[in-house]
Amino acid sequence: MTDISSRKADHITLALQTEHQSQQGSGFDRLRFEPNPLPQMAMEDIDLTNSFVGQMISAPFMIGAMTGGCDNGELINQHLAEAAEACNIPMALGSQRAALELGTQQQARRCAPSAILLGNLGATQLQKQGLDMAKRAVDSIEANALVIHLNPLQELVQPNGDRDWNLVLEAIQHCVANLSVPVIVKEVGAGIGPGSAKRLVDAGVQWIEVAGRGGTSWASIELARNGSAREREIASPFIDWGMDTVELLPAVQSACPTLNLIGSGGVRHGLDIARCIRLGAQVTALAQPFLEPAMQSTEAVIEKITILQEQLRWAMFLTGSKDLLQLKKAAIQ
Ligand SMILES: Cc1cc2nc3c(=O)[nH]c(=O)nc-3n(C[C@H](O)[C@H](O)[C@H](O)COP(=O)(O)O)c2cc1C
Repeated sequence: MTDISSRKADHITLALQTEHQSQQGSGFDRLRFEPNPLPQMAMEDIDLTNSFVGQMISAPFMIGAMTGGCDNGELINQHLAEAAEACNIPMALGSQRAALELGTQQQARRCAPSAILLGNLGATQLQKQGLDMAKRAVDSIEANALVIHLNPLQELVQPNGDRDWNLVLEAIQHCVANLSVPVIVKEVGAGIGPGSAKRLVDAGVQWIEVAGRGGTSWASIELARNGSAREREIASPFIDWGMDTVELLPAVQSACPTLNLIGSGGVRHGLDIARCIRLGAQVTALAQPFLEPAMQSTEAVIEKITILQEQLRWAMFLTGSKDLLQLKKAAIQ
């Protein structure tokens, strides 16, 4: 196994352990919908469909970025991609860097010929290897959009992580201007706030996935892999670095009203999905909750998707929202 592949395998094992979920909780419970005991509709009237990057999807959530599909990630991605295809929900791949560098064949498009697939690269990779790598990431899976992840805290905690973040914004801007598909910029669990969102919008970015604090903690995962007592001491105050998804969504929306927002980071069920939509997200993404089913089978992932859809439908029924436009206006406390 290469260094990158063994790091990715560690990530999968550690991400399944609850101690690496945010210890502060997600804050989603703070947002309460006003109950509507007079829904005046039948459950079967509810429409979950939405459009995303030019295609209709069956519900406003996607499988969040986890693995690019190298080594043990290949089977996980096969299950995720087959389920995304069967349920018509988008799937974001994890970083494709290893697959592109090792020349590994990526199977996601073969498993999901018509689903929305999102490619993925780290921003520092883009800064070093530029547009050519971005184009290869898109072409290799016929991606509908490219996700660029910003993860400075993770890189600081990670042994030998990238510490030169000069010219990252310029690399993103170049990519947005020259790629044939939309670019989505995301964090990995600390969040993108209004200040950075504005700079990204000025660079031409039209999609941001906030990936706020509240779910998987990358500082915690990378700390568990870092054997140096000195580095552990330096990193420990930053374990809960970042802002909660539930506070970031309205803040970014009011700072950048034209931006398309994806709500993610700590989204754990269909009621959280409803909360993100109410707070201004067009779509939401869940990563860690799909990991365990993805290790089992395609059917287990499909079952997870149908449970999330049903929970979202319940939230819409209980707020009297027939469709997502109505859910966006549902009364909250
Ligand atoms: C095992 C695992 C691997 C991940 N790898 C990537 C990655 O390669 N690229 C990326 O953009 N995000 C990656 N993430 C971050 C997620 O996409 C997501 O932003 C973060 O985990 C917060 O969402 P969650 O609380 O639903 O897990 C990974 C997450 C997990 C759990």
